[in-house]
Amino acid sequence: MRTFSVNVFGCQMNVYDGDKLKSAFLERGWVQGEPGSSDVEVYVTCSIRDKAEQKVMSEIGRFGKFKTPPLVVLVGCMAQRVGSAVAARFPWVKVVAGPRHLGMVPEAVEESLTDNRVRMLLDEDPMEADDLCCTPHVEEGTVRGYVTIAHGCDHFCAYCIVPYVRGRFRSREGDEILREVAELARKGVKELTLLGQNVNRYGKDLPNGPSFPELLRMVARVDGLVRVRFATNHPVDFSRELVEVMATEDKVCPSINLPVQSGSDRVLRLMGRGYTRDQYLSMVEMLRDAVPDVGITSDLIVGFPGETEEDFLASLDLLERVRFDLVHTAAYSVRPGTRAERMEGHLDVAEKARRLNRVNQLQAEISLDINRSWVGKTCPVLVEGPAPKGQGLWHGRTPQDKVVLFQGPSKAGEVVSVKITSALAWYLQGELV
Ligand code: SAH
Ligand code: SF4
Ligand code: F3S
Repeated sequence: MRTFSVNVFGCQMNVYDGDKLKSAFLERGWVQGEPGSSDVEVYVTCSIRDKAEQKVMSEIGRFGKFKTPPLVVLVGCMAQRVGSAVAARFPWVKVVAGPRHLGMVPEAVEESLTDNRVRMLLDEDPMEADDLCCTPHVEEGTVRGYVTIAHGCDHFCAYCIVPYVRGRFRSREGDEILREVAELARKGVKELTLLGQNVNRYGKDLPNGPSFPELLRMVARVDGLVRVRFATNHPVDFSRELVEVMATEDKVCPSINLPVQSGSDRVLRLMGRGYTRDQYLSMVEMLRDAVPDVGITSDLIVGFPGETEEDFLASLDLLERVRFDLVHTAAYSVRPGTRAERMEGHLDVAEKARRLNRVNQLQAEISLDINRSWVGKTCPVLVEGPAPKGQGLWHGRTPQDKVVLFQGPSKAGEVVSVKITSALAWYLQGELV
């Protein structure tokens, strides 16, 4: 019996691709093994920052110490960007595939196991959008599921590698998405997240729609689902229609990730984001007016080339103004071939680290403050399972996407009422009511 394991790095789109790959291998009679000790180790990789790539390099490199290294498969964004070089460096990497060649991976692996040759399946046509024709694998008891609704991205923000490795924006057919969602719901998924680099643009390239708000409404009405989420949103394509669906569909969670990236108009312009700080602030206002208690998270880059102290302070000020529930912060990382790579005024590592520390500190205070405001309230928590650190604790999330730990007994997939008793910056604790 041949074993495989799928190791996922990067964003939720990779989680989804990994789950589809699992289905494809299982359908061919393979068996899931332990990560790190299977016959075939698949790496679903990310290129968003240099660190994301270094991590995978060191994981793959350690197989050099094995007497018989596994057959390593490199797929995803990093495979597309530097897969040939990785395969040249580590001879146990036998199959390299870009994000749009996943469907060919299991067969290529079987061939490489037979003839021991390297197979390169890179995406050449950026318009190509080849889906793996199977539903993502769902482990027994899995509560949260993902479905990618659009491939690629056309924005070409100055710092970002995604359009280069994931190709052009392409919406999947609405019917196909609904079929996949229904199948996941049938397998027990309770909370479904629709994925894309910019879900708000969904459908704009389909002759007969649906639009994203329409799709979201249809997904929210699929039998068996308890909650629906979506990620992520580009402010440029953000719409009032979407806010209306959030306000009126019970199953669509009052929670949104709306990446801002910078609080300085000058930097936003350099990044090519297409909106101003004021426009962003109005979107937040519209959201909060229409959806009370909405949880808003964001993404922010510090140390973009040419970011002055004043620009940086404008980002800090924006965090204080908006008061996000959570912010994914990152120090700018140079991505080869992007516009920002060629810009003036790259900051040194120490300065970027200082700015990163400072935003993280400020945001931790804000998150803690917001979380404390939940203490004493009772929230509907969708239970995901026993908490990873055990001690009889269970974990789940509120509609706003806040993680809640509480004392059991409980059951994955149930919605329980939990009274919040204490708060930390990153999660809440409570007791069953
Ligand atoms: N499509 C989303 C972002 C996807 S990438 C959007 O438009 O906002 C996820 C996050 O990684 C980004 O929001 C950004 O904050 C971060 N990121 C992307 N490229 C980066 C880079 N070169 N350096 C540091 N962070 C980066
Ligand atoms: Fe990258 Fe910008 Fe596309 Fe987001 S919208 S994936 S940041 S290019
Ligand atoms: Fe990373 Fe690719 Fe996602 S670069 S963030 S895995 S789209």
